[in-house]
Amino acid sequence: MNRLQGKRAVVTGGAQGIGAAIARRLAAEGAIVAVLDLSEESASAVLAAPHIGVACDVSDTASVDAAFAQVEARLGGVDILVNNAGIGSAPGDGMAEYYAGQAAQASGDPTAHADQTIHCHDEGWSRVLSVTLDGTFRCSRAAVRIMARQGTDAGGQGGAIINIGSTAALAGNGPVPYVTAKAAVLGLTRAMARELAPRGIRVNAVNPGATETPIYAPLPDEVKAAVSADSLMKRLAQPDEIAGAVAFLASNDASFATGSTVNVNGGAWFS
Ligand SMILES: NC(=O)c1ccc[n+]([C@@H]2O[C@H](COP(=O)([O-])OP(=O)(O)OC[C@H]3O[C@@H](n4cnc5c(N)ncnc54)[C@H](O)[C@@H]3O)[C@@H](O)[C@H]2O)c1
Repeated sequence: MNRLQGKRAVVTGGAQGIGAAIARRLAAEGAIVAVLDLSEESASAVLAAPHIGVACDVSDTASVDAAFAQVEARLGGVDILVNNAGIGSAPGDGMAEYYAGQAAQASGDPTAHADQTIHCHDEGWSRVLSVTLDGTFRCSRAAVRIMARQGTDAGGQGGAIINIGSTAALAGNGPVPYVTAKAAVLGLTRAMARELAPRGIRVNAVNPGATETPIYAPLPDEVKAAVSADSLMKRLAQPDEIAGAVAFLASNDASFATGSTVNVNGGAWFS
């Protein structure tokens, strides 16, 4: 399929995992892709020219604005933005203490609790939100500035933004700052969809379930099995299964979809 022929796409956090699968899928469907990630070297390794890799730290406004200026200069514009960069945890967010509590419970300590909140310092909280939520806003703002200048095409399409949420935003089963950030990403999606519809810019979200990315690789089989058990399919998602939903929302096949959330979680959570 060449649904994205002639489109220019940006994928944040695209150097590995779900982001790399999305970048490859958008390229396979005809888009020219800018892969953004912390290191230009890792971003550039995902796709060969004419695709590009650009260094970008989504937690830093100057870095984001410089990266989008570079993308506009090199690709001539931006039609699709996939806000994929996100972190589940950061030092000082209380997850180390949470896991220690879980381990103590598992070893039979009846007084143990798996607490995160009481151990979560401002730095850890802010770091997770700065990358996962604020980064989505910063990149959207930079992309919309470009899309607004470009205007709409003959079909009235002014651009597509796809935000990567998480099933954890619905089920609440994850680190507290991460779940908060991802739930807010869904609110951001809806508010921006309303605001930007008159410009022909569609804003949608995809909520992956547990997906076999590098974070799962080092985990023992029993942990993977426990996570897989949550899904009706009894397995983890493959990154390309998330990428397929993103490509649909990026394409004109989704020309009437905005403000929506597509859950790709093997039935782990309905909503
Ligand atoms: N893997 C899962 O099970 C799962 C489930 C639900 C949602 N998600 C979400 O999907 C997205 C991708 O997840 P993944 O598992 O592929 O993650 P990953 O950790 O494998 O990859 C994330 C990428 O983002 C980059 N990144 C991190 N901080 C950044 C920053 N400040 N600026 C720019 N890039 C940065 C990393 O370098 C990395 O390349 C994330 O938003 C994640 O929350 C993942």
